[in-house]
Amino acid sequence: MKNLFVALLLVLPLLSGCTKKENEIVIGEYDSLTGSDATFGLSTNKGVRLALDEINAAGGVKGKKISLVTLDDQGKNEEAASATTRLITQNNVVAILGGVASGRSKAAAPIAQSHGVPFVSPASTNPDVTKAGDYVFRVCFIDPFQGLVMAKFASENLKVKKAAILRDVKNDYSVGLADVFSAEFKKRGGEIVADLSYQAGDIDFKAQLTQIRSKNPDAIYIPGYYTEVGLIAQQARQLGLKVPLMGGDGWDSDKLYEIGKDAINGNYYSNHYTTESTDPAVTEFIKKFKAKYSETPDALAALGYDAAKILVAAIERAPDLSGKAIRDELAKTKDFPGVTGKISLNENRDAVKSAVVIQVDGNNRKFITTITP
Ligand code: PHE
Repeated sequence: MKNLFVALLLVLPLLSGCTKKENEIVIGEYDSLTGSDATFGLSTNKGVRLALDEINAAGGVKGKKISLVTLDDQGKNEEAASATTRLITQNNVVAILGGVASGRSKAAAPIAQSHGVPFVSPASTNPDVTKAGDYVFRVCFIDPFQGLVMAKFASENLKVKKAAILRDVKNDYSVGLADVFSAEFKKRGGEIVADLSYQAGDIDFKAQLTQIRSKNPDAIYIPGYYTEVGLIAQQARQLGLKVPLMGGDGWDSDKLYEIGKDAINGNYYSNHYTTESTDPAVTEFIKKFKAKYSETPDALAALGYDAAKILVAAIERAPDLSGKAIRDELAKTKDFPGVTGKISLNENRDAVKSAVVIQVDGNNRKFITTITP
């Protein structure tokens, strides 16, 4: 009797799992919900959930509701890889909304590719990410463009002649972006007077900053993630380095100002969208996001929202729920009206979109200019 009871307990969840599956389409998501870039994952997840809630409220897709399984990669590449395996082999997801950090996407995307499960990264900008194969897509621009944007802004708008670089040497995103900036800035007649390294998790950057100070740059390019960038800004100002600091989308977090305080104010970074947009699609998105979460959506939230909508649109068009059918429709994405711009995926499965330059203004992100490819 006791055995039968135990057996029933084991079988029941399986049975309910089966029926559940018939009226549901399961999408997987992994991201950094904890760790030193946790706002990346938390914001992305909020954007994804807003999109899916809207879709489900409007009746779902193919007559089914969409359910989302979200796993935490803790900001670690190996966790991103195992989360992806788990989503595919245990949760049987039809597709994966991949994470933010390029390093993590590079670890996870090949796994999705090898299982034939479509993978859409909302925000990974390193060019290598989508090279994992034809099941791997992204809805953001890539770093060869993002690096060019800041090199152009530095030389044309800020009139920088001598720049220093401080890169996170273990982060694929940071290294890629630093290399592009360096090449593009030199092409424009600029000089790189120092190119130094740190590693995520470091807290003391004084040695590098002292060396940079001795080279008298007009600006410093720091393509890292917000936690270290906030600390670097503080220490740069303490050492009397007053020149503009510049960065990429990895700066985009409310924590940047919380950590960097006045030292980060007035500095510039490239990003995916601006909250100052007057496009009705954007203002509507911001209104809905604020109503749900009582906060202003950052770029990750906006990209998560767009990635989820683009994936579901492909699922809707696909003749069936196979990885191949969904993949084929994703590849046809053209002129999708996203909140981060009009999104078309090119032959490399990357989006070609404009970027904005933002100036840190306390907790506001002041729009400076748009740069189109
Ligand atoms: N582009 C970054 C990367 O690839 C991630 C990121 C995107 C961070 C957007 C913030 C905002 O690592």
